[in-house]
Amino acid sequence: MYEVTIDPERCKKDGLCAMICPDAVIQQDEKVTIPKISNEHMERCIACGQCMAICPQAAISHSEFPATTIQAIPFEQMPTSEQVLALLKTRRSIRTFRDKPLTKETIETIIDGARFAPSGHNSQSTEFLVVRDRALLNKVSAMVIEYLKFEIKRFANPIFRTVALVADRELAESGLREIPGFKRMIQMFESGDDPILNGAPVLLAFHARRTVGFGDVNAQLALQNASLVAHALGIGHFYTGWVLSPCRAPMARKWNRCIPSLLGIPPDNNLYGALALGYPIPKFKNMIERKPPQISWV
Ligand SMILES: Cc1cc2nc3c(=O)[nH]c(=O)nc-3n(C[C@H](O)[C@H](O)[C@H](O)COP(=O)(O)O)c2cc1C
Repeated sequence: MYEVTIDPERCKKDGLCAMICPDAVIQQDEKVTIPKISNEHMERCIACGQCMAICPQAAISHSEFPATTIQAIPFEQMPTSEQVLALLKTRRSIRTFRDKPLTKETIETIIDGARFAPSGHNSQSTEFLVVRDRALLNKVSAMVIEYLKFEIKRFANPIFRTVALVADRELAESGLREIPGFKRMIQMFESGDDPILNGAPVLLAFHARRTVGFGDVNAQLALQNASLVAHALGIGHFYTGWVLSPCRAPMARKWNRCIPSLLGIPPDNNLYGALALGYPIPKFKNMIERKPPQISWV
């Protein structure tokens, strides 16, 4: 259990900590009293650090956050909303890379941004796996291609097709529509191209223990943070949905663990997302419009 204390000398009794504590671990009876830390509620503390982040007097100590790790927010460095929107609107998937490795520092900076994404119950459940080994990257692409061959084969089987159509018609039909694309990708791969990782020098995988609530959502949020940091650093990247596709394949248990096992992701963890990263060859010059948002106002 965590230990939280309030220094009565420093506390100005403004009650901000009690106001923002998401689990009412800190409570204030009246404005004039020092907020109380309820021992009874202490076990609910999720160590989000909001109490320490809000206190102007630095009156709070939390066992999870040594005073030396607390930094004042550099407000002067905050981007404007125009700058944030410009970053968001200029992020694009990049699929052609220079034959140049990314430095460890660059990858660590990207992961540093990823770990600040919100997470359900502040679990910070996302774990990161960095694959830079060219031979392993090639094996990942090859395994996805093998999986695509498996899909073609099983959809060619009339018994499987019937069972799949009965189990979930829409899903099976969308699978069938993919087959020509799968065949094209296999052809590309066999003629020396890599339609899975596009020759990216790094694969950054996001995984988490399968039992963590919202572990999948947390990983996607971390991934999106990573994507934006990478973009700000000028590092090209794209979401490698194909790498995840065997993990998500219905009625194909043998294939669901193939990529995580190949990457050495622990058996209790699920692979939820992966970014291919590298220095981009082209640089986009124009911003392209998106569909107008479908908004309902109630
Ligand atoms: C869940 C998901 C899976 C994706 N999988 C792939 C993929 O396997 N290969 C690829 O080249 N792009 C992939 N993409 C990138 C999308 O094609 C891309 O985001 C979309 O076309 C919009 O383009 P933009 O990212 O440049 O804005 C994926 C994106 C998402 C969100």
